Amino acid sequence: MTKTLTLLGIESSCDDTAAAVVQDTNILSSIVYGQTALHADFGGVVPEIAARAHAEKLDHCIEQALQEAAVTLCDLDGIAVTAGPGLIGGVLSGVMCAKGLCAATGLPLIGVNHLAGHALTPRLTDQVEYPYLMLLVSGGHCQFLVVEGHNSYRRIGGTIDDAPGEAFDKSARILGLPQPGGPSVERMALSGDPKRFALPRPLLNQPGCDMSFSGLKTAILRARDSVVAEKGGLTTQDQADLSAGFQGAITDVLVEKTKRALQIYLAMQPKTPVFAIAGGVAANGMIRTGMMQLCAGLDTEFVAPPMNLCTDNAAMIAYVGVERMLHDEYDDLTLSARPRWPLDQRAAPMLGSGKKGAKA
Ligand code: KG4
Ligand code: ZN
Repeated sequence: MTKTLTLLGIESSCDDTAAAVVQDTNILSSIVYGQTALHADFGGVVPEIAARAHAEKLDHCIEQALQEAAVTLCDLDGIAVTAGPGLIGGVLSGVMCAKGLCAATGLPLIGVNHLAGHALTPRLTDQVEYPYLMLLVSGGHCQFLVVEGHNSYRRIGGTIDDAPGEAFDKSARILGLPQPGGPSVERMALSGDPKRFALPRPLLNQPGCDMSFSGLKTAILRARDSVVAEKGGLTTQDQADLSAGFQGAITDVLVEKTKRALQIYLAMQPKTPVFAIAGGVAANGMIRTGMMQLCAGLDTEFVAPPMNLCTDNAAMIAYVGVERMLHDEYDDLTLSARPRWPLDQRAAPMLGSGKKGAKA
């Protein structure tokens, strides 16, 4: 990179209010206010509550990000904000806040695709060169992307229904474990027997790298109900065994489908093959280990960003802003919030809809 660029990033597309200051690939600050407690009583993210909480917290979050980075608005080169896809009220809160700051300061405004934030994270953390294969796996998304450039993505497979994070969250609820489900299920699975319950591996026998996770959630529900019918309730060991079985099934599907996606990608003959993982579910230790072993066997470099940059954050949004500014790509005050915004505009829409709306 030739010119040093310092950007403020703002993220509010789901249930995390986040602000960060990034200078090229250096993260000067990254503040995230989670909303888990606000939604805990409702069994999922309530869009109206999320939007209100974002509006309340954004100012404070931005102030803290600037303070921790020891910069003022005058030191910035631009403001990057998630403009979609996501829960529209939340996205609007962030976009309106960024517009206000840009109108007041004259700083350039850059609207960022949240998925591009996850997809370019390996460039922020590990300076990975284009192209690379990525599995973007979160609460609302699951897709294999060949990342060819900051504006060029080819989707070669994805979920046809639920995203894995959504399946983790719903399964946790079924098992009476706290939200977000991924970390709770992972914790319980540590002391569980993954073989006690025979759970399905959906679409594993079908060719290609499309995936399905909604059947797994139903299977967990049935397995729980049969234990409850037999014993009148779930013991901690039952919860652990069901968690381990569920995590094992998701990992098997993700690893096998990644193997196929890698075969497709390697057939494109990249010079130095790299496979990267991003999104909240990429924080899962068993899934990371499975991917790492797979890559080692295929002479492919495996890149997994640190956990706090796998889940939603604003540093990834600021970084996409840096790449866009380097290409002189700016938005203006007509920037709109988009509930849907697929990265690969040429790919047919995936079926189903997740926590964040339709799969992109
Ligand atoms: O990327 P993210 O923060 O937000 C979305 O864009 O969706 O991902 C959140 C999702 C949640 O569904 C959460 O349960 C899941 O990521 N997650 C995990 C783990 N940590 C977070 N899933 C499995 N194992 C984990 N350790
Ligand atoms: Zn995300």
